[in-house]
Amino acid sequence: MRVLLVLLITVLATVAFAGRSRSSAAAQDAATLAKIKSLVHNLSRSEKIEVIVSLFNGAISEPMTTLPPASNKDTNADVDQKLRDAYHLFLIKYKKRYPEGEDMEARFALFVNTCREVDQHNKGVLEGKHTSIQEVNKFADMTPAEKRSMSASSIDDEPSSSESKQKPWNNHANATSLDWSLLGAVNPGLNQNPCGSCWTFASTSAVEGCLAISKQGLVQLSQQQLQDCYFKKNCKPGGGSVSKAMRIIQEQGVTTNQVYPYIHNTGKCRNNVKSVVKVGQILRANNEDELLNLVKRGPVAIALASRDLHKYKKGVITNTSFAKRPIDHAVLLVGFANNCDNTGRDCWIVRNSWGERWGEKGYFRVERGKNIFGISKGLVAVDCKRV
Ligand SMILES: *[C@@H]1O[C@H](CO)[C@@H](O)[C@H](O)[C@H]1NC(C)=O
Ligand SMILES: *[C@@H]1O[C@H](CO)[C@@H](O)[C@H](O)[C@H]1NC(C)=O
Ligand SMILES: *[C@@H]1O[C@H](CO)[C@@H](O)[C@H](O)[C@H]1NC(C)=O
Repeated sequence: MRVLLVLLITVLATVAFAGRSRSSAAAQDAATLAKIKSLVHNLSRSEKIEVIVSLFNGAISEPMTTLPPASNKDTNADVDQKLRDAYHLFLIKYKKRYPEGEDMEARFALFVNTCREVDQHNKGVLEGKHTSIQEVNKFADMTPAEKRSMSASSIDDEPSSSESKQKPWNNHANATSLDWSLLGAVNPGLNQNPCGSCWTFASTSAVEGCLAISKQGLVQLSQQQLQDCYFKKNCKPGGGSVSKAMRIIQEQGVTTNQVYPYIHNTGKCRNNVKSVVKVGQILRANNEDELLNLVKRGPVAIALASRDLHKYKKGVITNTSFAKRPIDHAVLLVGFANNCDNTGRDCWIVRNSWGERWGEKGYFRVERGKNIFGISKGLVAVDCKRV
């Protein structure tokens, strides 16, 4: 009886805790939105004009030249209207559709706030503060909750028995640069769309690389099968981990995208499809030095903190203050370069799964050896066979 009572209390406490952490995230999101709205509401006339000018001349997005340029003769109402018009153009450009009852003032404020952040960042480029350029892209009006649900991935800490210490690979042991995407081992331009499925893209891509490097062709493996059959949460946050996904591919296998296409939505598991790949080993890196050895074997599935990544357009990201936590997004490390862009910096070359229109045709570059975005852990597949 007492055991039952303790059990009941534990269950109730767990439920209450889960409920509270969900509602506290919602409360935090509401506070963030309220703050951004207030910030935008308080902008001075000249701060608003600065945004309109930058939108018009293409300093922070593709030039919005259908927007009349801001002028000193504009009344305050004109300035406000031009900002609204710019937001309207943004809505059309990205075919935005919000759910019914959406807080449009919050969306507008998110957009304007992002414009301001990007503008300030890009002005810092002119002052020599950074080498990466940002832009106002499809994520500019995203809420904190939406950002979380786009990512939602992790990499497990405990190495499983199939993951072992990596060794450098002789073919590229002394390379000072390497880019698997130029060597036919990477599928370009993948897009997870609004769905927390990054971990299925990173893990299948690492195995695709392994097959391609061993001259068995560049196929596309099924992200959807992993999602439907092994992670019931599907697109919702708190979904998968890249290490679990790699282990599943090794133990259960996976079919091709052609047989089991990506629908970025919840699907029912189709069990009647055969795996097309066998993975010999999964090797693991736990820091950036080990990652450098690992990527010489093939494309590496890594996890990072994505919070400061959404606005990236091009160049090498060097800001070591960018968030290193929470680790919430899985991507594919495809290579590295020493002294990249003649900046004297060493960098990583990474493929994201946010579409080809994001970043450098779907890729980004980030300085190496500085733990930027918390990059440190990764997994590579070796000894792969088509079956
Ligand atoms: C906006 O201005 C009001 C009134 O001056 C002030 O109370 C509020 O803190 C300001 N909001 C922000 C985010 O600075
Ligand atoms: C790498 O460098 C070492 C030491 O200089 C050399 O022995 C080895 O043959 C080189 N490997 C390749 C693949 O060039
Ligand atoms: C680096 O990022 C942090 C956090 O976003 C920001 O506060 C800081 O201004 C950035 N540093 C530079 C040089 O822009």
